[in-house]
Formats: sequence, C-alpha cells, structure tokens
Amino acid sequence: MGIDSALRSSGRLRLRARLAAATVAVAAMTGGAVIALAGSASAATTLRGAAEADGRYFGVAVGQGDLSNTSATNLAGSQFDMVTPENEMKWDTIEPSNGSYNFGPGDNIVNFATSHNERVRGHNLVWHSQTGAWVFQGPEGKPADRETLLARMRDHIQTVVGRYKGRIHGWDVVNEAIDEDGSLRKTPWRDGIGDDYVAKAFEFAREADPNAELYYNDYNLEKPEKRAGVIKLVNDLKARGLRIDGIGNQAHWRLETPTMDAIEQALVDLNSTGLKVMYTELDINLLPSAGRGVDPAVANPYANGLPDEKQQQLARRYADIFGLIVKHRTRVSRVTFWGLSDADSWLNRGRMNHPLLWDRQRQPKPAFHAVVDVLKRAR
Ligand code: XIL
Repeated sequence: MGIDSALRSSGRLRLRARLAAATVAVAAMTGGAVIALAGSASAATTLRGAAEADGRYFGVAVGQGDLSNTSATNLAGSQFDMVTPENEMKWDTIEPSNGSYNFGPGDNIVNFATSHNERVRGHNLVWHSQTGAWVFQGPEGKPADRETLLARMRDHIQTVVGRYKGRIHGWDVVNEAIDEDGSLRKTPWRDGIGDDYVAKAFEFAREADPNAELYYNDYNLEKPEKRAGVIKLVNDLKARGLRIDGIGNQAHWRLETPTMDAIEQALVDLNSTGLKVMYTELDINLLPSAGRGVDPAVANPYANGLPDEKQQQLARRYADIFGLIVKHRTRVSRVTFWGLSDADSWLNRGRMNHPLLWDRQRQPKPAFHAVVDVLKRAR
C-alpha cells in the first residue's frame, strides 16, 4: 500500500505503526537487526510501551521486599510508569511514634522509581487503618481532642509531603472515608475532629506541596449508595475551594462481580464530578471468601495452580476491563495493579490466589497478553 492510501484509509497513528514495523523489518535484514528488534519487541510487549502511545500510564504497588529480588525489580522497572508504595508510606510505618519518622522504606521505593524514570503515587496520608493507636490517644487514656488531632495530622502531612516535595506526583490524601451506605465512615478521625476532617487533610496537603496532585481513594464504588457518598464528599471538597485532582477507585474486583455494566456506570458517574478516575489497586480475587471451618480444598481450590479454563476466564475479565478503559479513555487517566505478580499479592493470605498478570515465577499469564492486545488494538 502506498503512503497516500495508507494515510487515507488508516489515519496517521496506524501509519506510524506501519512505518515502525517496516523499519524493524528492514533492520532485521541488515546489521542493525539485533538492537532494532530487541528495542521494538520490548516496547511492544510491556504495558508501558503499549499504553504510552496514547498518553496513559500504568502503575504497580511495590513493597520494600520486592526491591531485593531481581525478577521483581526487572518487572517493576520495565513494565510500568508509576509506582505506589504498598505499605511504606502508611502512617504506622512512616511515623510509628509521635514525631519520630522512619523514612527509609519510603525513600527506597522513591529512589527505585526515580532511577527507572517512573513516577510515584504517595499512599496514603490519612486513613483509619495501619495508623498507630497513639495517634488517637489523649492524656490519661482519653481520646485525643479536635485540636490535638488536627495538630498531629498537620504535622504528619507537613513532614511527609514536605520530605518528598517535587518527587511525588500525587498523594492519596484520604483513604476509605465513606461507609458502605454512603455515610461518612465512623473512625477515630471523624470522632475526634468532626466531619470536616477530610477537608482539613486536603487543606494541609495543599499547603505542604502546592504542586502535588491530590486524590481521594476508596473501594466498592460500584455500589450506588457508596458511590453517591463519595460523589457528595468530593463535591463538598470542591465547594470549599480545595484542590482535588482525581478519584481513586481501588478496583479490588472478582471474576464476575461487579458486572461490567456496574463498572461502567460507576466510571461515568464518578467522572461526572469533573474529576478523572484512576483505578488504583486493581486485582481480581479468584478465591471464595473463607469462613471459619470451611473445608481447605474448598477454601483453597487453586493450590496446585490455576486450571486453564480459569486462566482464560481471568484473561477475558482483564480484556473486558481494559476494553472499557480504552472506550472511556478520556475519563480514566491511569491504572495501577496492586502487586507485581501472584507471588506478591496481598490476596494470598495463606492461600494461593492468582489475581494479577504475572504468575508466581513472574512469567506473563494469558491475562497479560490479553491486556496488551486490547491496548495495541486501541491505537
Ligand atoms: C494492603 C497491603 O497490600 C497489605 O500488605 C497490608 O497488609 C494491608 O494493606 N486498600 C488500600 C491498601 O488502600 O493500602 C491496602 O493494602 C489494600 C486495601
């Protein structure tokens, strides 16, 4: 096909892909073959390479333990554009006791990301979980009062955000503040400060780094009541004139729930606030919920590996999710997986889960190829 007809029939982007392919083919016949092929093949077979073409980027949660494992750092350093510290910047790690900060683990992750030319999403500043009990305690065993809690929150945010100023692209300022029924979740933060604790956290974060993006992050947003609560909260922050740049939808999903329709509705609704949506902790839990006394074979059905049929089902689920993301490309700014490989996932908890795109040997699964295919076709 001549260049003119290629332009007319396929548009400029496809032409570019064709020219790139032609370059590789030509290079393959010449002495430059090895380098040209290796470079092009790795760009085409990484999430990063497949997505960068249309300005989106991929993230992954990385834990301190991953940094000493070569296959983990190879994956984290090549496939992604962004890193979220899995636990290293949570309150109980970074400020384990009052005013005493432990930056080592967070620094290691930031250094890793920066040296691989990847951005960092800070996770997280204010949450009811993974926060030491001391934070909420006042004198004589009484709960800390509003002023004490606000002072602790402000000091924490100033110190942590201040430390990473210019090196962290955006922060999850408040995590999981809404309850399943859409009300403001009852937490020690809310009990002690009042309903405006969320607004205060956003105010302090803005003050600490006016250039960092600021996000609200939560899960189960496909449930209409909970989603309505999040939308109300976000609109309230906007009405107060506070900076908020995006809504993080954690996206801890299963094979069949939530339905694709529910996921799409949530995306459209959340984006109607005027904010971009980010899938911040994507994984697909394949295990049944394990109540006590459940037969281990039932609770842990894939202990010897994932049967092919399930593997394919997982690949289809991921393809559907990414199909939706591509369809709504203007609404979704990025996607982060909660863990590198099945070996690294928080969803194992003593069982064998298979929720991610790479298996326990950190080899790509059919789901990985399915995602790359969807991204390539979307160009
Ligand atoms: C999880 C981590 O993956 C685990 O290692 C840790 O034990 C508990 O927290 N929502 C969040 C994440 O915002 O911070 C959580 O991460 C998963 C749920």
